[in-house]
Amino acid sequence: MGWLLLFLHLFLFHFPSFSSSSSSFNFLCHGDESYALLQFISSFTTDIATWKNGTDCCSWDGITCDTISGHVVGLNLGGVGLNGTLHPNSTLFRLAHLQKLDLSDNYFSEVPIQISHLSKLESLHLSGNYDSNEKNDQTPCFNLLNGDIPLVVCNITSELEFLNLGHNNLTGIIPQCLSNLSSLQFLDLQMNKFHGTLPSNFSKYISTLNLNGNLFEGLLPKSLSHCKHLNVLNLGSNRLNDKFPHWLQTLQDLKVLVLRDNKFHGPIANLKMKHLFPSLAIFDISGNDFSGFLPKAYFKNYEAMKNVTQVRGDSSLQYMVLPCTDHPQGCTDSVTVTTKGIELTLVRIPNFFVSIDLSRNKFEGEIPNGIGELHALKGLNLSQNRLIGHIPQSMGNLTYLESLDLSSNMLTGVIPAELTNMNSIEVLNLSNNHLVGEIPQGRQFNTFTNDSYEGNLGLCGFPLSKKCGPEPEQHHSPPSANNICSEGKFEFGWKSVAIGYGCGFVIGIGIGYLVFLIGKPRWLVMIFGGQPKRRVNRRRTNGSTQMVQMS
Ligand SMILES: *[C@@H]1O[C@H](CO)[C@@H](O)[C@H](O)[C@H]1NC(C)=O
Ligand SMILES: *[C@@H]1O[C@H](CO)[C@@H](O)[C@H](O)[C@H]1NC(C)=O
Ligand SMILES: *[C@@H]1O[C@H](CO)[C@@H](O)[C@H](O)[C@H]1NC(C)=O
Ligand SMILES: *[C@@H]1O[C@H](CO)[C@@H](O)[C@H](O)[C@H]1NC(C)=O
Ligand SMILES: *[C@@H]1O[C@H](CO)[C@@H](O)[C@H](O)[C@H]1NC(C)=O
Ligand SMILES: *[C@@H]1O[C@H](CO)[C@@H](O)[C@H](O)[C@H]1NC(C)=O
Ligand SMILES: *[C@@H]1O[C@H](CO)[C@@H](O)[C@H](O)[C@H]1NC(C)=O
Ligand SMILES: *[C@@H]1O[C@H](CO)[C@@H](O)[C@H](O)[C@H]1NC(C)=O
Ligand SMILES: *[C@@H]1O[C@H](CO)[C@@H](O)[C@H](O)[C@H]1NC(C)=O
Ligand SMILES: *[C@@H]1O[C@H](CO)[C@@H](O)[C@H](O)[C@H]1NC(C)=O
Ligand SMILES: *[C@@H]1O[C@H](CO)[C@@H](O)[C@H](O)[C@H]1NC(C)=O
Ligand SMILES: *[C@@H]1O[C@H](CO)[C@@H](O)[C@H](O)[C@H]1NC(C)=O
Repeated sequence: MGWLLLFLHLFLFHFPSFSSSSSSFNFLCHGDESYALLQFISSFTTDIATWKNGTDCCSWDGITCDTISGHVVGLNLGGVGLNGTLHPNSTLFRLAHLQKLDLSDNYFSEVPIQISHLSKLESLHLSGNYDSNEKNDQTPCFNLLNGDIPLVVCNITSELEFLNLGHNNLTGIIPQCLSNLSSLQFLDLQMNKFHGTLPSNFSKYISTLNLNGNLFEGLLPKSLSHCKHLNVLNLGSNRLNDKFPHWLQTLQDLKVLVLRDNKFHGPIANLKMKHLFPSLAIFDISGNDFSGFLPKAYFKNYEAMKNVTQVRGDSSLQYMVLPCTDHPQGCTDSVTVTTKGIELTLVRIPNFFVSIDLSRNKFEGEIPNGIGELHALKGLNLSQNRLIGHIPQSMGNLTYLESLDLSSNMLTGVIPAELTNMNSIEVLNLSNNHLVGEIPQGRQFNTFTNDSYEGNLGLCGFPLSKKCGPEPEQHHSPPSANNICSEGKFEFGWKSVAIGYGCGFVIGIGIGYLVFLIGKPRWLVMIFGGQPKRRVNRRRTNGSTQMVQMS
């Protein structure tokens, strides 16, 4: 049984509603519009208390009138429980001045082409979003529209700025005519079943593009690099098959880039440019086939991720300032992330939510030291890659980091004592690596259980049941080479520490020598300076999806 949920939201921002202080003799409301509204609502069983014949319709709940002309320009019937059919002859379509229409979260089953009679429409909200109020369960209100809706939309008007068709059961290809919506700023088609390739052009004003959770395939349109206002690009959970879109890196306002769970592949080139992704706060490319070294150059350039000022602010109230704030409901469901092992849907994206997720790829090499400069980071996930080398001491500088997952890599060496400086860390996963030596103690490290460390045969000390050996008395003799990296023969105490360093050292020299031969001595210097490169592993869980409103 397909219920169509239509959310009709009224956006009050530009058109403050008429207040009852106005003369009651002289209604602002036009009689024909009042009639159209009453007829429309009478075709449903739902009553809206304030909608009374003989009163000024501009004062009714959900109605916005133009303060001068008195025409109804906004209609917000989101979540009022309308159940039934929108007839092609519905008087709703006589509201010719309507600019903002929100029918989300209702139970319609069809939206007829006559919606295109609303030729002034700028904002159309037909999504089956989660109720952002206190519904609190995890059940989205499905808004099951039929597959033709996008074409209807294309016929509406070229002035559409806001279009939310998310969480419906829409199928088919995304119509090329979307390119003709040249004023479009916000497009949300997430959680439908659209397939095919993406349109070659989007509006140059687009600032939020959310196509998450469809069946899109093929390449990303390069024309996106001309969308200078792009803030949020969420293409997660599709079947896109492309190289990393480095041509997005010059977009100065891009805050959220989500490519997770697609078929992106190949290395991410370490370009020596400046000001790459300067505003990026959420970078999620997990669950793809990226390979090669971690994108060190990006880490160096993520200016927003280095800036703690915003993190220190009143973090409970600050959200990313997205242009869609004119459309509060429209900003919902902007992005789904995994942090602290939980999949979260951020209804609004808090400013302070700064995260990098490179998990479940094929990144190799070491974790770059520069990661420690991204001071604003809250979440870092490099799990399920092929990273080698040591955990950089500089990570201890990430004092806002709450979630760190380096699990299922091939990291060696000891866990740097500096990591205990990470005052905010709540979730740590270092399991399934080749780490050795004593687990550092103190502060947050006293709170982790032994599953943060499992699968590292050489680790010892609390919270593992393995005790570390006695403190070493003298340590000048380095481990002999044939002990190095031999599995299952670790001793505890300083020796295993030394073995850990030994492995790193040998690998370091190996790589360094190779690099030297290739003729890039700078790398050699870096490696001998002890800077690990980063490697990323990512794993996907089928964990429950939680809806979290960060408010
Ligand atoms: C969604 O659409 C598909 C066909 O496109 C249909 O099989 C399925 O039943 C629909 N889902 C619901 C919940 O109606
Ligand atoms: C509103 O009331 C007037 C009479 O006062 C009536 O003519 C009109 O049909 C009513 N409109 C609706 C929609 O019921
Ligand atoms: C909508 O109306 C139909 C009957 O007209 C009823 O079976 C269904 O339960 C209603 N749905 C909701 C969500 O109220
Ligand atoms: C729409 O037309 C049908 C007949 O085609 C009629 O029964 C129905 O009352 C009309 N609805 C409205 C809202 O005018
Ligand atoms: C769009 O409108 C034109 C005329 O305004 C009409 O001929 C065409 O069939 C409509 N397209 C769709 C998909 O409804
Ligand atoms: C876009 O609009 C132009 C005219 O404005 C029209 O000729 C063209 O067919 C439209 N393209 C699509 C895909 O609707
Ligand atoms: C896409 O944009 C380019 C220029 O930016 C233009 O030449 C081309 O006609 C557009 N294509 C469509 C389908 O609108
Ligand atoms: C850091 O962020 C604050 C507030 O968001 C801003 O005023 C400041 O210019 C930023 N600093 C740098 C170095 O980007
Ligand atoms: C980061 O940490 C390293 C080593 O722990 C330290 O030497 C360095 O000064 C720190 N850098 C910053 C910018 O805090
Ligand atoms: C750590 O990650 C591994 C997979 O990489 C997972 O199996 C394990 O459950 C995680 N442990 C914790 C404590 O999150
Ligand atoms: C982890 O802790 C549990 C109890 O807290 C214990 O049963 C288990 O043996 C420990 N595992 C290791 C590897 O220390
Ligand atoms: C890291 O990513 C993996 C796979 O994408 C996920 O299973 C895990 O829960 C994430 N770790 C944290 C701490 O969020």
